[in-house]
Amino acid sequence: MERISIVTGANSGIGKVTARQLAGRGDRVILMCRNMAKAQAAKQEIIQRSGNEKVEIIQVDFASQRQIRAAAAQFLQQYDRLDVLVNNAGLLASDKRQVTEDGIELTFAVNHLGYFMLTGLLMPAIEKAAAQTGDARIVCVASEAHRYAPFSLDNLQMERGYSGIKAYCISKLCNIIFTAELARRTRGKNIFANSLHPGAVNTGFAGNTPGWFAWLFRLSKPFLLSEEEGAETSIYLATSPEVRGISGGYFYKKRMRRHLIPTATDPEIARRLWEISQSLTGVYY
Ligand SMILES: NC(=O)c1ccc[n+]([C@@H]2O[C@H](COP(=O)([O-])OP(=O)(O)OC[C@H]3O[C@@H](n4cnc5c(N)ncnc54)[C@H](OP(=O)(O)O)[C@@H]3O)[C@@H](O)[C@H]2O)c1
Repeated sequence: MERISIVTGANSGIGKVTARQLAGRGDRVILMCRNMAKAQAAKQEIIQRSGNEKVEIIQVDFASQRQIRAAAAQFLQQYDRLDVLVNNAGLLASDKRQVTEDGIELTFAVNHLGYFMLTGLLMPAIEKAAAQTGDARIVCVASEAHRYAPFSLDNLQMERGYSGIKAYCISKLCNIIFTAELARRTRGKNIFANSLHPGAVNTGFAGNTPGWFAWLFRLSKPFLLSEEEGAETSIYLATSPEVRGISGGYFYKKRMRRHLIPTATDPEIARRLWEISQSLTGVYY
């Protein structure tokens, strides 16, 4: 049976390589992207390099809940099952706190609620694939930056003490907490959800963001991993038979990390984050 896969933020960097590799395996791959010009170029490149023509684009800006709903609806109109969802789109925002059209701090909205919402809206299709094949995968690209998050459930959107890098660290910790809770909630359904750190990867990430962290990131580019190396763990979690049966883990270099910070593994924090995410998005699952 043909595998259907979605990769978000697939027009560049780690997401583009992930999508290309999935296409190379013969999957039908949907690129969920904001920038259509970059998405079209990525689609052509992926088709050319993978030899697989089954590559499609759905446009979405994850800063807009309306657009996330529309993108999920567009997918569900065409397909009733989804084998692989790679939540990858992410940003490092500037040190000027920004709020989306939904009234939510930009980093938290895109990096965390984007993952939460899209996954929830697509869950019926993920469940269907899992029931048919016994193996559906959800991959969430997080970061080691989560270790530096000044995490507090009553300051997730950094109304107090905002900086771009702090908001980024919080959002990446949310990715890990969310994935662990998702694994608990989908236990026994043949849905395998895992998060990962891709390494420090030479992508366009933080390319135009002002601030010391983005500056440091750009300065260290010659020493960073290639995009291909950076995508390895995403592809492993999306495809490897070794991962069938493993859910709720946080991986780096294709290995599950055993020692996480306590916040990342606290089920009560995870339950509360889930409830907050539900009420901020109106997506309940
Ligand atoms: N590079 C690293 O060293 C590193 C380390 C740890 C974790 N990560 C994580 O890896 C993931 C991929 O990043 P990357 O390094 O490959 O950087 P990248 O090349 O900048 O890719 C980020 C992707 O996310 C998309 N995106 C950002 N905001 C979006 C929005 N509002 N709506 C839709 N798409 C949006 C971007 O689309 P546009 O082209 O439209 O901006 C782009 O396709 C991110 O989640 C990042 O946090 C990266």
